[in-house]
Amino acid sequence: MNFHIITIFPNVFDSYLGDSIMKRAISEEKISVQFYNPRTVTKNKHNKVDDIPYGGGPGMVMMAEPIIELWETITKKTLLEKVPFTKKRRFKTIVLSPGGVGFDTQYAKTIVQKYTDIIIICGRYEGIDSRVIQITQAELVSIGNYVLTGGELAAMVIIDSMSRQIDGVLGNSNSREEDRISSHEMYTRPAELIHKGKKYHVPKVLMEGNHKLIDEWRKNH
Ligand code: ADE
Repeated sequence: MNFHIITIFPNVFDSYLGDSIMKRAISEEKISVQFYNPRTVTKNKHNKVDDIPYGGGPGMVMMAEPIIELWETITKKTLLEKVPFTKKRRFKTIVLSPGGVGFDTQYAKTIVQKYTDIIIICGRYEGIDSRVIQITQAELVSIGNYVLTGGELAAMVIIDSMSRQIDGVLGNSNSREEDRISSHEMYTRPAELIHKGKKYHVPKVLMEGNHKLIDEWRKNH
C-alpha cells in the first residue's frame, strides 16, 4: 500500500513512522509513505497556503490550487513509476475532517482490499476550499467525534490502522487482535502480583491450558 500525504507539516510524522512496526513495514516495503507539501508549489511571494473565507467568518481556509496541483502530480507521476506493490494502480482520496464519515476497522479493511494508493489530504485552519473535494472526488473522513487542530494526527491513525490490515506488517499473522476472539482483559507474568500488600491473581482459567474454556472466557471479558 502506498500512502501519499498532502500536508504542510510533514515533519510531525517522523517519530511515529521512524520506530517500531511502522518503521519495519516501510523498510520491508509492505507500505510506502510519501509527503507532498503545498508550500512547495505556491505561486505567491510568501508561500501562502491559506486565505480568508468568502462570505466572511473567522479563521483561514486552505487554498485549492496548491493541493490540486500536488494531487495531479501524485496521480500522474505514480502511474509512471515502478513500485513494488503494483498491480493496477487504484487511487482513493481522503480529506480529513471532523465532519466526515466515521473511520473504523471495517473501513480500513475495505480500503486496503480495494486500493493500491491512498491520497490523504490533511486540513489545517478552518478547512479546505471545497473545490478540492469536487475535483479530486475525495471522501471526507473523521477519526472520531472531536476536533483536532489539523488532519495530521488523524492521518497517522489511518496509516497505522490500515497498515496492520496488510499481510506481513504485524510480525505474527496471528497477532491481529481484531480478527480473533478478543478480550480486553490481558495478563502476563507474574501469576501473582503484590501491590501495597494486596495480592492480584491471573484468572485461573487462563493458567489451565483448556483452550475451549479460554475462548469461552474471552468472549465474556
Ligand atoms: N481534523 C480535525 N479533527 C478531525 C477528526 N476528528 N477527524 C479527522 N480529521 C480531523
